[in-house]
Amino acid sequence: MSQAVQSDYATIEVRPNPSGFGACICGLDLSKPLPPITLDEVKRAWATHSVVYFPDQPLTLDELEAFTLQFGEFGHDPFIKPMKERPHVLELRREPDEKATNFGAGWHSDWSFQEAPPAATILHSEVTPPVGGDTLYADGSRAYEDLSDEMKARLEGLKAVHSAILPYGTKGVFAQEKEKRTMEIISSKDAETTQPHPLVRTHPVTGRKALYISPTYTIGIEGMEAEDAQPLLGELYLHMVQDKYVYRHKWSRNMLTMWDNRCCLHLADGGYDGHLRVMHRTTIAGDVPV
Ligand code: SIN
Repeated sequence: MSQAVQSDYATIEVRPNPSGFGACICGLDLSKPLPPITLDEVKRAWATHSVVYFPDQPLTLDELEAFTLQFGEFGHDPFIKPMKERPHVLELRREPDEKATNFGAGWHSDWSFQEAPPAATILHSEVTPPVGGDTLYADGSRAYEDLSDEMKARLEGLKAVHSAILPYGTKGVFAQEKEKRTMEIISSKDAETTQPHPLVRTHPVTGRKALYISPTYTIGIEGMEAEDAQPLLGELYLHMVQDKYVYRHKWSRNMLTMWDNRCCLHLADGGYDGHLRVMHRTTIAGDVPV
């Protein structure tokens, strides 16, 4: 699954995926506060690999919250009812008899329709199905870097328009859903507002540029007619989610995965009908994209 241990960390064991996008971090106990040097190394590994995963981490919800807060304030989660008395924790739960499409099934970067979307999402697996249930990640940095100079020049200065209208609007996908869903989704007029962000975003830590668009939340390009914007966005989506940029993450029980919403997209794959899947999710507040 992962490769040799990287030697430039003193307190953590980092095993990057073969592509360098995604890395396993072993040998830590996340239920306790991380010593400052270790926390800095985890942050560095996260910035370098965009998706970091820590196997064998049985965590209580208190411990999950405490782990999250070592990286920053909680993000704000709209449109999904959080866990009881845990306003910052979402339970992503799908029962064996659910037929509704699994939550998060389209490519997206979390809450990119917000003015300052979350820098990170943290997902902890409680119950993993025996088949399916993978999460896919697409590397928006490498996808950007591989674009032609001509395309990079074309994208320079463009602002993409983000909105939650397609999934969470009053006539959105969830509002029209007929099948039973355990997660409580709040379809709302608030989802119909729009938020422009640079189409190419610069990472505040690494300085790398990344494509910052998704078919779930990007509804257009500022100042461009839909007939021009949609084909351009479509071309970029197809480019970004090519196999060479995608990491398919396989879960095991009690794994914690933390990803960088500023430079990658993700998608929750289904394929586990008839089985229970339960994950707990927090987000870490981020900056206004530049
Ligand atoms: C999500 O946060 O979009 C869902 C990811 C997953 O359940 O694998």
